[in-house]
Amino acid sequence: MIIRRKAAAGSFFGGQTFFATTAKGVEEVLAREMTGLGLEGVTVEKGGVRFTGDLGACYRANLWLRTASRILVPLAEFPCDSPQGLYDGVRALPWDRYLTPDTTLAVECVLRDSALTHSGFVALKTKDAIVDTLRDRFGRRPNVNPKDPDLLVNVHLARNRCTVSLDSSGFGLDRRGYRVEAGEAPLRETLAAALVLLTGWDGTVPLVDPLCGSGTILIEAALMAMNRAPGLVRERFGFQRWPAFDAPRWRRLLDEARQAERTTLAAPLVGYDRLEDVLVVARNNSRRAGVERFISFTAGDVRDLAPPPPPGVILTNPPYGRRLGDEEQLKPFYGQIGDVFKQRCAGYTAWLFTGGLDLAKSVGLKASRRIVLYNGPLECRLLRYDLY
Ligand SMILES: C[S@@+](CC[C@H](N)C(=O)[O-])C[C@H]1O[C@@H](n2cnc3c(N)ncnc32)[C@H](O)[C@@H]1O
Repeated sequence: MIIRRKAAAGSFFGGQTFFATTAKGVEEVLAREMTGLGLEGVTVEKGGVRFTGDLGACYRANLWLRTASRILVPLAEFPCDSPQGLYDGVRALPWDRYLTPDTTLAVECVLRDSALTHSGFVALKTKDAIVDTLRDRFGRRPNVNPKDPDLLVNVHLARNRCTVSLDSSGFGLDRRGYRVEAGEAPLRETLAAALVLLTGWDGTVPLVDPLCGSGTILIEAALMAMNRAPGLVRERFGFQRWPAFDAPRWRRLLDEARQAERTTLAAPLVGYDRLEDVLVVARNNSRRAGVERFISFTAGDVRDLAPPPPPGVILTNPPYGRRLGDEEQLKPFYGQIGDVFKQRCAGYTAWLFTGGLDLAKSVGLKASRRIVLYNGPLECRLLRYDLY
């Protein structure tokens, strides 16, 4: 069997390829973020974007990328259509660079169109190969800790090709650390950030979310407008427990990020929801994110919406059936949203994110752009309406 090891696996101080995963449809947005961050070798693929760099690039990607789900460090790629093939491929890697018998590990698997079909089995076989390698080297083996491992290994098996990576994020980058509570059907933070970036909102005009729920869209927008690194309040990243962790370098990056923050914003961010309870959650989340002074959250029905004077941007995510009630019942509500846009929001550009593709027709306005995105497995649309 031919095992292609990735360049400089294990010694990330030289050139190394990284793969940032993201939601389907967000790849181009993520690639633009990477280019803006000065990352090199940016290449768009399905479900993620590759880039190259050293350990510092990996840290910066984790700290700064708003739309990446995880930053993986691919170690090897090999053909794999049997348990033995998997075991041998994983066993061939230098695990003693990343683990000792006293550190813990966990394995996550994504399988698609392959001879091996059981992710639990693939994870187990991968783990066996890793701990056997360590036992041979040290006479003792590391333990598995599925909840809080020191090293998270990612196995991606698609059409009988296996990619083994280290997960430098450790857990999803959407878990920024500010959203401890949420209302119903909250948007993933990384998806909310992607929506804001897709609207092209640049912070110079008001941003309004009339159905703001726990405030994710506005909080992500405020983080962007004040140039705050989205990972700054996160509890930890996977790479912080790696043997190669360069703590002084990481501290320097955190200091630089803090110094890059703006303390005032050019335009207001405004959120409404009819539920006072959910607004309490939104305010708490915005406080934890350090952006509460930039966002006003007010109780109110969307029918009474009175946005600040135009121009401005509305970005909102109404309930869409599958999770929050029935599609048929929601049609008149989408009609009301359309009426509010027409009658109360002239001069604004409105963007509506929905998974109810039929519901969107009830808005009664012609969309000038339709962007296909996925919220998990659900196909959604981000629709733009120019309100003259
Ligand atoms: C899908 S949730 C928004 C989730 C939000 N994007 C988040 O990340 O938390 C839709 C929100 O619309 C609010 N809502 C529903 N009908 C409303 C109405 N007529 N006026 C104002 N808010 C309404 C609900 O209370 C709910 O919080």
